[in-house]
Amino acid sequence: MTTADTQTLLGRLLDPANRADPYPLYADLRAAGPLSLPSTNLVVFSSFADCDEVLRNPASASDRLKSSVAQREIAAGAVARPFGAPGFLFLDPPDHTRLRRLVSSAFVPRVVKALEPDIVALVDSLLDTVAAKGEFDAVADLAYPLPVAVICRLLGVPLEDEPQFSRASALLAQSLDPFIAVTGQSAQGFEQRLEAGLWLREYLRELIAGRRVEPRDDLISGLIAAEEAGDQLTEDEIVATCNLLLVAGHETTVNLIANAILAMLRRPGQWARLAADPQRASVVAEETLRYDPPVQLVVRIAAEDMTINGVTVPRGDSMLLLLAAAHRDPEAFDRPDEFDPDRPQIRHLGFGKGPHFCLGAPLARMEAAVALSAVTTRFPDARLATDPVYKSNLTLRGMETLSVAI
Ligand code: HEM
Repeated sequence: MTTADTQTLLGRLLDPANRADPYPLYADLRAAGPLSLPSTNLVVFSSFADCDEVLRNPASASDRLKSSVAQREIAAGAVARPFGAPGFLFLDPPDHTRLRRLVSSAFVPRVVKALEPDIVALVDSLLDTVAAKGEFDAVADLAYPLPVAVICRLLGVPLEDEPQFSRASALLAQSLDPFIAVTGQSAQGFEQRLEAGLWLREYLRELIAGRRVEPRDDLISGLIAAEEAGDQLTEDEIVATCNLLLVAGHETTVNLIANAILAMLRRPGQWARLAADPQRASVVAEETLRYDPPVQLVVRIAAEDMTINGVTVPRGDSMLLLLAAAHRDPEAFDRPDEFDPDRPQIRHLGFGKGPHFCLGAPLARMEAAVALSAVTTRFPDARLATDPVYKSNLTLRGMETLSVAI
């Protein structure tokens, strides 16, 4: 494949026109095999075996400073981390290990299970409001407010402030799209995203200052206590960790719930089966994570020269792993394009793999299971009202609206 052909294929990836159904494009990318763009030091992998291998390889790094592009910029005088510490999603050991450990106990299955009664009550009250309307938007009325209320409560961020930072969070989610990696240039709206990032950090700093004076039973207070107890983390790292959790809690589970609702509404038999048997909710959520995953791609940097299933990746090159394409790989799955929660084993990389495996996975699974079983039981005759409308995001792909008639 020529460089021009590769650029055309990757250009289609960035084109929002492909967001409603990117899967035919992903099939073309998989068929083309690993693609490299030497001008931007990028390799794109889209088969299951390749993505899995990169995630398992110990030379795969997450710290963007290790890329040759960042190294060249720093050598030319750029500041290494102009916005302070990144969230631990973008760090490698030992910092990644240290920071992840400080919050991991809040997300273990036992602690998450204790949140279930509150989550059930929250879902019921959201659906009470829906019942009075006759038609609803599955995103605005259920899939978005649920995870947002939960993460705000866990962190200790006042829900009244949410409308202010939901905009910032949405803009930050867009900054995960790999425009620079693919085109060498940032997408439109860079200034706006920059401003949103600075605003959210400042907001969190003020919240932290308040909690220092008046600690509560929440994650922010827990991180402050760890900071004050010794040299385990800095204030900058507290801000970055809260920022990561807040954005992760806002921009992912919403898409799991909405994508599962859409998949079932397009196959009314699936909706009816879940309505009749709430226990099916977890396999429906799991198959959605494979069939239509909320996180469509992740990025790694080669910390040393690597060979991935025969392809050489020089040290410092970025690797874009198209998880959503890997999940439809016929080499790895029977009937990959079929939504089938009853497949004998549901494998996927929807929560990643390896040291960065999603910390929020038990919480996301539980929220999705509660929401999906409740909405189908409550509205067994629900139908898709109109075609859904998608946001332009590629990495954290999801719907803007999903209208449902009940
Ligand atoms: C369905 C919902 C979710 C999906 C599909 C999802 C997916 C992912 C994926 C794919 C990764 C790995 C990224 C990589 O390897 O580069 C990840 C990491 C992470 N997720 Fe989630 N996530 C979800 C919900 C959540 C929630 C609710 C939280 C917490 C509030 C959360 C917190 C995190 C954190 C902190 C990391 C970084 C882990 C690390 O670097 O060690 N996620 N998530």
